[in-house]
Amino acid sequence: MTKGYKMPEGFLWGGATAAHQVEGGWQEGGKGLSIADVMRAGSKDVKRVEDPAVLDGQIYPNHWGVEFYSHYKEDIKLFAEMGFSCFRLSIAWTRIFPNGDEATPNEEGLAFYDDVFDTCLANGIQPIVTLSHFEIPLKLVQEYGGFRNRQVVDFFTKFAEVCFRRYHDKVKYWMTFNEINNQTNWHDPHPLLQNSGLILEDGENWEEAMFQAAHLELVASAQAVQIAHAIDPTLQVGDMIAMSPIYPLTAKPQDVMMAERAMRYRYYFGDVHALGEYPAWLLNYWAKRDIHVDVTEADEAILKAGAVDYVGFSYYNSGAVEYKADNPDMVYDESNSQVPNPYVPRSDWGWQIDPVGLRYAMNWMQARWNKPMFIVENGFGAYDTVEADGSVHDDYRIKYLSDHIEQMEKAVVEDGCQLIGYTPWSAIDIVSASTGEMKKRYGLIFVDADDAGQGSFKRSRKDSFYWYQNVIKTNGAEL
Ligand code: BG6
Repeated sequence: MTKGYKMPEGFLWGGATAAHQVEGGWQEGGKGLSIADVMRAGSKDVKRVEDPAVLDGQIYPNHWGVEFYSHYKEDIKLFAEMGFSCFRLSIAWTRIFPNGDEATPNEEGLAFYDDVFDTCLANGIQPIVTLSHFEIPLKLVQEYGGFRNRQVVDFFTKFAEVCFRRYHDKVKYWMTFNEINNQTNWHDPHPLLQNSGLILEDGENWEEAMFQAAHLELVASAQAVQIAHAIDPTLQVGDMIAMSPIYPLTAKPQDVMMAERAMRYRYYFGDVHALGEYPAWLLNYWAKRDIHVDVTEADEAILKAGAVDYVGFSYYNSGAVEYKADNPDMVYDESNSQVPNPYVPRSDWGWQIDPVGLRYAMNWMQARWNKPMFIVENGFGAYDTVEADGSVHDDYRIKYLSDHIEQMEKAVVEDGCQLIGYTPWSAIDIVSASTGEMKKRYGLIFVDADDAGQGSFKRSRKDSFYWYQNVIKTNGAEL
């Protein structure tokens, strides 16, 4: 056992999930089709592809997730047993607006989340809610072009307003778009599995399309912040940034400059969310690369008035870059610029494991944005083995979480970072977002289901369950 620091009184400990990765019930309760419903299964080596035809015989793991839709009462009880004081989840947009463009919301979907939130509250757990966690109604992608279309901003803000009005007595902390900045690598792996719902047209400049869609999402998010505050001034609305700090590979000044350029490219989303305006470097970058983004004066006013209340972020790993002579302008390309860091180990899926990077990133964000922060994802995707007696000895997961919590606590206690809470990924096993696998397990609770959705879906407690229970009980003092 490692000795940690006690966290401040009222610190929120919990766990996280996302609707499409756990709920299943993809056609229950009047739910419509979301982009997650048309993502086929992939694997470590085979990328997921979208298949809107929903062909028979293909595997769509998000259709069943881990059947949280029918198991949530049991799951929330297990969360309470671990001692959670909060639980991060997302609302499936298509349960509320099945196609996204309806005039009125779907009452059955609203009632479902009422019951989920009530169950949490009855168990002493405060729900923390993301509005769009890699989800958008499929119709808004196919017929409206996703966030390349300003009408979709109105559909999103209407969805947000319906949720704030309905749940403001039950949910205090909200986030708008999960990992909004992950679309900087959007042109490569899995285009649909992003909140922006962009599909590239032939010959289109992907970067311009990405910046335009991201702009409209930033505007939609800032509007949502203002709507929430108008409905209930006690609501706290955050952004959600995928934080993976990018180091210079060496102290060579060109490497350091390259890393700085990579960081500002990846985290300008956070600048706009927190500071309410575009950084000057980006306007210059657009001009130099002949990128045209439609930013109106009205948009600028909305961004300014809709700065987020806190910074929600995920942290899994760090990255590194080096200067390359064939890229003298140091243009950062998310999919190709990164190089392995020889100082950190990697998971079975190749993710670099770097606990100190969490402390570094927290200090970086605190200095840059000066907002309270919330770690809403941090975890280790790994193969788990179930023993004959049903136990799962996931000491690798315990080590990962323990090492990261230790650094998180140092960032708070030693460095003075402001942190609201910590919700590791994931509270319970989920379907992996990038690969669609079940066997890339993250949960503190094991779910008996395989990659094809076969199994009893029975829940059981992993060793990490009991370990985390004690972390919460000691408020972080025993890791
Ligand atoms: C984050 C996402 O990117 O990382 C989660 O917000 C996701 O939805 C998590 O599950 C881990 O990534 P993956 O691809 O291993 O599931």
